[in-house]
Amino acid sequence: MAAQNGRLVVVGAGAVGSSTAYAALIRGSAREVVLYDIDAPKVEAEVLDLAHGTQFTGSSGITGGTDISLAAGADVVVITAGAKQRPGQTRLELAGTNARILESLMPSLLEQAPDAVYILVTNPCDVLTVVAQRIAGLPAGRVFASGTVLDTARLRWMVGERAGVSRSSVHAYIVGEHGDTEFPLWTGATIGGVPLRDWTAADGTRPFTPETLDDLARGVASAAYRVIQGKGATNYAIGLSAARIVEAVLGREDAVLPVSTVLAGQFGIEGVALSLPSVVGAGGVRRVLDIPMDDGELARLAHSAEALRTSAQSLGY
Ligand code: LAC
Repeated sequence: MAAQNGRLVVVGAGAVGSSTAYAALIRGSAREVVLYDIDAPKVEAEVLDLAHGTQFTGSSGITGGTDISLAAGADVVVITAGAKQRPGQTRLELAGTNARILESLMPSLLEQAPDAVYILVTNPCDVLTVVAQRIAGLPAGRVFASGTVLDTARLRWMVGERAGVSRSSVHAYIVGEHGDTEFPLWTGATIGGVPLRDWTAADGTRPFTPETLDDLARGVASAAYRVIQGKGATNYAIGLSAARIVEAVLGREDAVLPVSTVLAGQFGIEGVALSLPSVVGAGGVRRVLDIPMDDGELARLAHSAEALRTSAQSLGY
């Protein structure tokens, strides 16, 4: 159960925003949860439906509506508003549409909540982090994205399933773009301290062969497409991921999470937001870790950065 500090404002009452609010209520991620959207019937219905269940949740309650002044006094603002991926559509293809929505939203949010930490969930979240941070003019740590926290959770679930261990005993990261150029850091990946490549199953076999690792990487990168093909959107896991990040900020946890921040020269990358294991606590991202990578991983990070830089530059950022 989280520390129940602070006021969380979720912008966007669509599937992702409502699931984020729902997860935050259940986990007790914040003292107050607020849901904002411009669509009055939608946001009012979502707030009512969530409020009806608050007897059974860890948070004190939920409010919301269409008045942007609801963002006043927010400690954390999670931005989920925007168009969602259609089946087969890449996240980067949403950049133009969602950048315009963000450009119209950010000034009024900043006016209401100048001291908040801003977490971008709307895709392409890495590119939109550059846009939001440029508009806000805030320190990089105060404006970041959920990035590959969700992808990393997907990887840990898949590895745990294959190894027959709890996902919380799997320590491995997906880094880079939250999107098609993301990749796993097999260097340093362990299960309970045992290097993943050396993991031995009960029958003495080593399940994590190079082919298996490639399959896992493809499985993570295609996971969202598969869910979207079946149900039209992803929402539960991203909502839980966002709530987890909110807790690290409001609970001043200094937890290591692979969130996406605008880099300032780390790994030779400047002015691009992408995910790397980072210390997340009071005030947002406090440090991006200098995590060991082999030459192949460094090259993939550079490739991911270039894909994101190209997308941001196409928007004029
Ligand atoms: C996904 C969306 C949040 O990966 O990009 O499910």
